Amino acid sequence: MAYYASHPVAGRHFLQIPGPTNVPDAVLRAMDNPTMDHRGPDFGQLGAQILLNLNKIFQTTGPVIVYPASGTGAWEAALVNTLSPGDAVLMCRTGWFATLWQEMAERLLLKPEFIETDWRRGADVPAIAEALSRDRSHRIKAVCVVHNETSTGCTSRIDEVRAAIDAAGHPALLMVDTISSLASIDYKHDAWQVDVTVAGSQKGLMLPPGLSFNAVSPKALAAAEHAKLPRSYWDWRPMLAANETGFFPYTPATNLLYALDTAVKMLLEEGLENVFSRHDRFAEATRRAVRAWGLEIQCLDPRHYSSSLTAVRMPPGHSADGLRATILGQSNMSLGNGLGPLRDQVFRIGHLGDLGPLSLIGTLGGVEMGLRAAGVPHKPGGVQSAIDFLAGNA
Ligand SMILES: Cc1ncc(COP(=O)(O)O)c(C=O)c1O
Repeated sequence: MAYYASHPVAGRHFLQIPGPTNVPDAVLRAMDNPTMDHRGPDFGQLGAQILLNLNKIFQTTGPVIVYPASGTGAWEAALVNTLSPGDAVLMCRTGWFATLWQEMAERLLLKPEFIETDWRRGADVPAIAEALSRDRSHRIKAVCVVHNETSTGCTSRIDEVRAAIDAAGHPALLMVDTISSLASIDYKHDAWQVDVTVAGSQKGLMLPPGLSFNAVSPKALAAAEHAKLPRSYWDWRPMLAANETGFFPYTPATNLLYALDTAVKMLLEEGLENVFSRHDRFAEATRRAVRAWGLEIQCLDPRHYSSSLTAVRMPPGHSADGLRATILGQSNMSLGNGLGPLRDQVFRIGHLGDLGPLSLIGTLGGVEMGLRAAGVPHKPGGVQSAIDFLAGNA
């Protein structure tokens, strides 16, 4: 039984939202195994193997904590483990998800200070540098950045944010949300000296929703010893103690861990460099299609283009949600909607996760047919541009 079949269309549903992404059959099969005793002898071996492989995915030698929660839980874990009530945090409002993280910080009684953007580029690094150099008393305890803003298709340059913090000689922790970039866009937790990396299972990791992660630096662990925000479920300390032997302090999502074990092995077998260049290539093919249609890409700065999704602006007077509904009915494909102020103004093409060239061409073909069926002014030839690019670069 397919849970999405609200209307009869033959063929597999194309889930081309920017996460949750399509789950590979091998991962689905891994989940379809008997749940094991999470305190029994086999479990520790599975847990230890997963934690070891996760280090490679996050490009860290430090601990990676796995929560049975969506990405929002890992956001909260990052904040409550390291900060105290009233702490100032510098946050970059690059889009909808950065805004939600900031609202969470306020609810947790932190004092976010915002650096705004026009939602058409990544974090404003010179503005971060300026805010930190003005903060001579070191009131700011953390800088929080969303690596890939899923609502806009703009990435932030974490290497440059790191350099700005170092140049200011500022001791703030660096926290980065990689929920829609991990295992799709190159991300180096250790090399960029990130203190807490937040991630989720349902995008580049090719799993269903339900797991989320904190990768943690020694500096973040030291901060956790003094942080005063209340924490219990999210507390890193019992997690790390149990993880030493591959176990968890409370019931883990056992069958999702089977899936994680398989998905991570698949990614490592493909090779992270190949995974990243596949995503880069598909993103470039998508942008070429969008330009050939004569439509506008939401991201204005090519240095901030996302390799996991492309947000496309609708011509004035045309509804993005109407187009998405046409495409769902015509081609059985889901695309991402516009969020917050971009509602109905953009549609988002997810090109991350378990995706080959034919899935991408099918996706772009569904968009091009939908543009025609919905009467959206455009030029033909987007799919051809993508094919030309992929064929030339294969
Ligand atoms: C960049 C980013 N951060 C945070 C979230 C929130 O994660 P979740 O919906 O898994 O709680 C999302 C969800 O799409 C996201 O894309």
